[in-house]
Amino acid sequence: MDKIYIFDTTLRDAEQVPGCQLNTIEKIEVARQLERLGVDIIEAGFPASSPGDFNSVVEISKAISNPTICALTRAVQKDIDVAAEALKFAQRGRIHTGIGTSPYHIFEKLNSTPEEIIERAVAAVKYAKRYVEDVEFYAEDAGRTDEEYLARVVEAVINAGATVVNIPDTTGYCLPSEFGAKIAYLTNNVPNIDKAIISTHCHNDLGMATANTIAGIMNGARQVEVTINGLGERAGNTSLEEVVMTVACHKNLDYQLDINTREILKTSKLVSGLMRMPVQANKAIVGRNAFAHSSGIHQDGVLKSRETYEIIDPADVGVDESSIILTARSGRAALKHHLKELGYNTTDEELTKIYQRFLEVADKKKDITTADLELLVDSEAARHRSSIKLVDLQVVCGTTSMPTATVKLDIGGDEFVESAVGNGPVDAAINAIKSITKRRVRVEEFLIQAMTNGSDDLGKVHVQISHKGKMYHGFGASTDIVTASVESFLDALSKIS
Ligand code: KIV
Ligand code: ZN
Repeated sequence: MDKIYIFDTTLRDAEQVPGCQLNTIEKIEVARQLERLGVDIIEAGFPASSPGDFNSVVEISKAISNPTICALTRAVQKDIDVAAEALKFAQRGRIHTGIGTSPYHIFEKLNSTPEEIIERAVAAVKYAKRYVEDVEFYAEDAGRTDEEYLARVVEAVINAGATVVNIPDTTGYCLPSEFGAKIAYLTNNVPNIDKAIISTHCHNDLGMATANTIAGIMNGARQVEVTINGLGERAGNTSLEEVVMTVACHKNLDYQLDINTREILKTSKLVSGLMRMPVQANKAIVGRNAFAHSSGIHQDGVLKSRETYEIIDPADVGVDESSIILTARSGRAALKHHLKELGYNTTDEELTKIYQRFLEVADKKKDITTADLELLVDSEAARHRSSIKLVDLQVVCGTTSMPTATVKLDIGGDEFVESAVGNGPVDAAINAIKSITKRRVRVEEFLIQAMTNGSDDLGKVHVQISHKGKMYHGFGASTDIVTASVESFLDALSKIS
């Protein structure tokens, strides 16, 4: 089985994006996580670009033992000297040097000629070889470089000692078929290609970086340059997690990868947090919704057999939360599944009641959390044991009207209605209940709490009342705190008899 080398350039190509800069300590943290993830090569920076980059490459080289540490340079002797110096503590160091090879780069950016570019490329590789054995050459803008000329450049740098030849689609221009054909051309037409590894380095300007990288692999590339979360210049680089999971999912792509996929989500979160670049919710593999099934039909399918709507087991990329998201569109099966995970084994009748209440809450609240579910079960149990049931509640309150409540109760099968005023809607509702039940009770303690956060949250109410010297406790929960208060009061009242 051929091995695909994973070359991570989060700390170089992504880190140069405005706003994504990291300090040395943060870079070491990311590098250590990349090592746990199992990447083969870490591109740690461009040492000649700044003293900070130089220092980071030095410190990462000291901190990391397994992956090769790579430093970027232009095809310039001074850059190569600085990179070699920065890599002196690396257990395995690589210099990544290169130059532009497309007509845009040769004639416009570098004001040069194709032959001179080959000479400069060869000279840079030979110079880097004086310092390290492992020298990678990049042909910048190879995506827009003519194949025959690119093949000549590649042959020349391999003769000069390059161990890896990087074929970047710097501008993210290529179609997957074109990029694949370019790699195939080099594989088949460069006479000494067996002496080096071909690498891909794709940018995502047209959203094709992953597709191009996979096309590269299928046509002979054995190293892929990628970043966590696809961060990088402009629209970004190829994302590591997408390439790794594509190869892992497609058994016909029979390649060896040494990535510990269970570390993917953790790495994504670390990089997103430190680089202050939120991951879009629908981002493949690591987005918040990447494994979230919210439609009832999909949830039902996944509960019957995960593979109906999932090509990846979320646990394989380190996602341990349930992929069944509870929303107003969830069915009873999804609710039952969640309750079971929380340790509640409900009968069909209990489930029907809880489901009814769940739908009421889900209609009003976007995210139903575990805490919400526990509250629903507890408040349903309180309702169940209460011999006095709330049938209807209407309140009028605000800044201009006197708080008034109308309460309809079911007591032993008979219905009673009363209205009352109070100093607020809760007080008015409790006065109405007192006048129906004629109980002489005193509210001793009354506690309303929001469960989690957000103004759409479930409120839970604990009440303590006294009657003839004895204390009774009640509990209620609802997105409507007046309803929750009334339910907790009725729960306590019903315990008196
Ligand atoms: O996109 C690119 O061409 C690069 C090279 C410096 C490798 O990042
Ligand atoms: Zn790049």
